[in-house]
Amino acid sequence: MSILNRRLNDPSGQPPEKRPEPPAARPAAPPSAPPPDIGADRYNHLSAQKLRTSGKVAYLRKMLRPKLLKSVEEADTWMRSDADKVTVITERLKSAMEKVSAEKPEFRLSRDEWEELRTAMLDDLIGYGGIQALVEDKTCSEIMVNGPEQIFAELRGKLLETAHVFDDEEHVAWTAQRIVRPLHRTLDRSNPMVDARLPDGSRVHIVMPPSALQGTTISVRKFPEKRLDINDLVNNATVTPEVAEFLEACVKSRLNIVVSGGTGSGKTTLLNVLSGFIPNDERIVTIEDSAELQLAQRHVVRLETAPAMPGTTNLGILTIRDLVRGSLRMRPDRIVVGECRGGEAIDMLQAMNTGHDGSLTTVHSNNPRDCIGRLETLCLMSGVELPIYVIRRQITAAVDMIIQIARIKDGSRKIVQMTEVQGMEGEQVTLQDIFVYKQPGQRSNEPSPLGGGKLEPTGFRPNFYERLEENGFRIGGRIFGAGQGRIGERN
Ligand SMILES: Nc1ncnc2c1ncn2[C@@H]1O[C@H](COP(=O)(O)OP(=O)(O)OP(=O)(O)O)[C@@H](O)[C@H]1O
Ligand SMILES: [Mg+2]
Repeated sequence: MSILNRRLNDPSGQPPEKRPEPPAARPAAPPSAPPPDIGADRYNHLSAQKLRTSGKVAYLRKMLRPKLLKSVEEADTWMRSDADKVTVITERLKSAMEKVSAEKPEFRLSRDEWEELRTAMLDDLIGYGGIQALVEDKTCSEIMVNGPEQIFAELRGKLLETAHVFDDEEHVAWTAQRIVRPLHRTLDRSNPMVDARLPDGSRVHIVMPPSALQGTTISVRKFPEKRLDINDLVNNATVTPEVAEFLEACVKSRLNIVVSGGTGSGKTTLLNVLSGFIPNDERIVTIEDSAELQLAQRHVVRLETAPAMPGTTNLGILTIRDLVRGSLRMRPDRIVVGECRGGEAIDMLQAMNTGHDGSLTTVHSNNPRDCIGRLETLCLMSGVELPIYVIRRQITAAVDMIIQIARIKDGSRKIVQMTEVQGMEGEQVTLQDIFVYKQPGQRSNEPSPLGGGKLEPTGFRPNFYERLEENGFRIGGRIFGAGQGRIGERN
């Protein structure tokens, strides 16, 4: 019987700590040759029943977990993929089990149980515990642990509850500590929330009880091996080919662009695609909370925020705002800020208004109008005391276009609005939609939340159109829904 099936058939159906005492002794099966690697059923994330550790193995897993390492930090940098470390842990587990089963024969393991325990121990000590199989699976882009009993994942673009579980809260907490310790971050009652980047670039966010009511929560956004490029976005209908060309013209013509969208809507991916259009001879400074952008250009300076030094509350901190201000002294041609979510917005707008045209950023907001409101709020957070109409004037002078991206109801990501920031009318910012994602035959200019639509021109030609032409892009009116012609670089 496969390990997975046996786990599934655990008859108790109880969380491990509540299970009855392990059953009576079985014939010992001391592992001699290296056991075969665990089968593909480990990746059956959507199995109908939860993949619980079987009773006896769960007990041993919990009991031996802290005992196999010389110190709790010993394996912090060991990797699950490192065959030598796998051998070290396997050997230690083997000798620990020899002792255990000599003293308590009821803990002797069958070959399947041994293999289950070995895999579990490797996952806990040099992997990521209950989510290891999801971490290894390339079709999984996001993992969400809502306490020990509930693990969701985004698999091939779909968000689903998986069959994986942790044995108990202590098991989740063990894995959370294993994640943060090598990053020199502290997760404890005085630092109950950690936002960090793993060595492979994946982003992780952890909150522990009492704030996390179901137990420690872990959210992992895996670092894509290859970020989607503009061709991918055209092929999966995030944008139309015409709009892709238009975007290229906008970036090359040094428009200041804000990508707006909700959580996980594809802002960073789109920012990466837009940044990809920046010509090779320009000096780019990227500023991010945790570095996610992958730019192919050569002349790129990558900056990332720094948390406080361990054991201090504020020593060594560098915020996005510090980095944006500092970057102005680095002679950048373009500044790309991963996300504006604080007072740095005012510095970013000032940079956009003072010779760093063509800068790009993202803002967390639900539509272009909200995006303006959000930028205002962020500017106010800077502590700079300016009347609201002055802030609005700064925004309109700085930002040329807002691109709204969304994850729509069918689970796909779409650019749903492209909106020009035109100016002010009285104290209000005037916006003009240029493209809107619509259903066939739809008349209103509200973006559709449903699949099957298309990014359509609204018929309005943006005021920045002439800048595109001045930069050598011949734009016909047709792309905007009027007249003839299409975008193309001038010969
Ligand atoms: N246009 C797209 N088509 C298909 N998948 C996409 C697209 N854009 C992003 N994704 C996928 O969606 C996930 C989230 O993307 P991304 O990190 O760009 O979102 P985000 O809006 O920046 O998220 P957050 O709010 O957490 O910063 C990633 O796994 C990414 O590969
Ligand atoms: Mg992002």
